Amino acid sequence: MNVSEKIAIIGGGNIGMSIAQGLVASHVYEPQQIIITRNTSDLPKDLHENGFSFTDDNKKAVASSRIVFIAVLPQLAHAILRDIAPSITSNHVIISIVTGVFISEISEIISQDICIARAMPNTAIKIRESMTCIASNKKDCQDFEDIISLFNALGKTLVIDEPLITSATALGSCGIAFFLRAIRAASQGGTQIGFHAEDAQLIAAQTAKGAAELLLQLHTHPEDEIDKVTTPHGVTIAGLNEMEHNGFSSAFIKGIVESYLKATKK
Ligand SMILES: NC(=O)c1ccc[n+]([C@@H]2O[C@H](COP(=O)([O-])OP(=O)(O)OC[C@H]3O[C@@H](n4cnc5c(N)ncnc54)[C@H](OP(=O)(O)O)[C@@H]3O)[C@@H](O)[C@H]2O)c1
Repeated sequence: MNVSEKIAIIGGGNIGMSIAQGLVASHVYEPQQIIITRNTSDLPKDLHENGFSFTDDNKKAVASSRIVFIAVLPQLAHAILRDIAPSITSNHVIISIVTGVFISEISEIISQDICIARAMPNTAIKIRESMTCIASNKKDCQDFEDIISLFNALGKTLVIDEPLITSATALGSCGIAFFLRAIRAASQGGTQIGFHAEDAQLIAAQTAKGAAELLLQLHTHPEDEIDKVTTPHGVTIAGLNEMEHNGFSSAFIKGIVESYLKATKK
């Protein structure tokens, strides 16, 4: 990737800003290479202090960039794509983060034979720990390789077919909230049994991180790792079974399916 090129992020909200911060944290991009658009030019001072350029002019942002992220709410996507379409050239690459807007819709509005990707990251992209699933209309080209290496610098990636993007939204993008809630619940349990909230959260978060790292680094199965913790008549199996009797796995699975169903309706 040419590191001197610019990136436009259309929609500097929660995920747009997280992407911008992750790109800078990766040391591949300088803040000055990233132009972020919002619906207003009247922005809090602290946003400007981190060195990013902000504008409410989407066309201008697109014209001065090669890679264009679309990170606006789904209901605004079509109008914004129509607005920027005349500024898109054959050199541009589009990465849409928008839930529920298909590559074919973007392609039809843009009317250019360019690489268009749909990516589903999560907010951990800010600290380069995202899980990002990526689908594209063109997979055998330098532009797509550039997109993959951009996201590889921001966490882990998986190339998928576009029909699985909705599933990726539920499991990976919404998923971070599910795991955060699980950590919060563990912290609350920890406080009830004697830890100050701050200490309980540290123990819960590092324990969750350790569990994830066991699977990611050793490529083991969760149940194999659980078997190593559960001794006969033991403390862990008592807690685990109590959670299951109260629907722990079932609630998690149902939540993911519910998010998927909701995302399919968008
Ligand atoms: N949040 C996540 O974790 C996540 C993960 C994966 C995918 N997504 C998808 O990413 C998209 C954005 O989500 P979000 O959570 O970041 O939403 P958000 O926080 O509401 O951000 C949307 C941004 O779009 C800006 N905007 C509105 N109208 C605009 C316009 N005409 N031109 C340029 N910018 C405009 C808004 O600016 P103002 O603040 O000035 O109005 C706001 O900064 C959604 O489609 C969502 O499904 C989100």
